[in-house]
Amino acid sequence: MTVSSLQATRSRWQSLGSVRRVVQALCFPALQLHTTSSVMQVSQEEFEKAKEQLKSLKEDPGNEVKLKLYGLFKQASQGPCNVPKPGMLDFVNKAKWDAWNSLGSLSKDNARQAYIDLVSSLVSMKSPKEKTASDSKSKYQTLEVITQDNITKIMLNRPQKKNAITTQMYNEIMQALEEAGKDDSVITVFTGSGDYYCSGNDLNNFMNIPPSGKEKMAEDSAVMLEKFVSHFINFPKPLIAVVNGPAVGISVTLLGLFDIVYATERATFQTPFSQLAQSPEGCSSFLFPRIMGFAKANEILIFNKVLTAVEACDRGLVTEVFPDTTFQKEVWARLKNYAKLPKNSLAFSKQLIRGMDKEKLHIVNTQECKLLKERWLSDECMNAIIDFFQKKSKL
Ligand code: COA
Repeated sequence: MTVSSLQATRSRWQSLGSVRRVVQALCFPALQLHTTSSVMQVSQEEFEKAKEQLKSLKEDPGNEVKLKLYGLFKQASQGPCNVPKPGMLDFVNKAKWDAWNSLGSLSKDNARQAYIDLVSSLVSMKSPKEKTASDSKSKYQTLEVITQDNITKIMLNRPQKKNAITTQMYNEIMQALEEAGKDDSVITVFTGSGDYYCSGNDLNNFMNIPPSGKEKMAEDSAVMLEKFVSHFINFPKPLIAVVNGPAVGISVTLLGLFDIVYATERATFQTPFSQLAQSPEGCSSFLFPRIMGFAKANEILIFNKVLTAVEACDRGLVTEVFPDTTFQKEVWARLKNYAKLPKNSLAFSKQLIRGMDKEKLHIVNTQECKLLKERWLSDECMNAIIDFFQKKSKL
């Protein structure tokens, strides 16, 4: 290496600023010792700010980074590690101790600066999805949301689990709807990825009982469900379901709140509520009898009858059924044309049509969620869900 290339390398290294300081602090604590005097006092204020910023991280940075942060934080606030080494089997505390101890006699100031820099590099770091997508909607982990040709498409994106709706997905759908309601698109379309439209509520939502107990879990789930369904009741623009395959549970009951439902002939519609000792939601207890009459609605909502796409269409739940081979092509061509219509005219017409029932729908939603909360706490329901997973584990 020549003198000039060495100088060039050195100046590039110096110009890397914050990255350099982080790497120095993390990898070369000994080197840092020699540069202590050149580092300016780091204000406590900046350090406090970094601590706050850390809370805004959307993604878990991983254990390695968390340990580095822990070590730097301890070094910055207490100085060199001064507590006894935990026993070998105390894995977590031993890892934390190692992270702190590895910083040697790094000064508090340098540790504080390294901590600030590491936090700032994490906060500005984007997820791989965000890096490649130009629009901010790629922040969703369980959905794919795209706005194109005046259409916002919200696609459930857990095909390996038949697009079962987890708590995270419930929250992401609400966020996507809020954004779609305000964006420039004319219509909003819901669909699923893979061979299913959606297999309904992810039954694991009921299996992970938190330490706060199942009453609290049922209460929280009921509050979330009510809020979730409210997002559909209040949605201001035409909402269209492109049912690309079988639909189960809440993905079916919500269809009464959609303005148009297009289905592939391969789709089926099933609400296995009594099989799971549950009860209807999504305002279906009010809208299904209104759409298809009590006699037909009861067969579905109480007795779990599975409808083919054609039967669902005959009962008025589905607008039109398409051959599976041409489904996507035909439906999207039609939707692109609809999306050329005047935006406000479509939105106001939808609001007029739905507005009459809005208050009633919110009341129904509240009652449905209240009953469901009781059902979730029943032994009947718990046993039915355990049965589902036991049957699966025996396969
Ligand atoms: N909740 C949790 N996991 C679900 C799910 C749900 N609602 N639906 C599907 N899955 C999971 C399966 O457990 C399976 O996971 P695994 O690969 O880790 O075993 C995976 O998705 C694929 O499903 P699988 O059952 O193997 O596919 P299938 O084609 O044989 O059956 C269904 C598909 C949807 C008929 C079946 O999974 C099912 O009955 N799911 C439950 C539907 C339900 O009751 N929903 C709640 C309504 S209130």
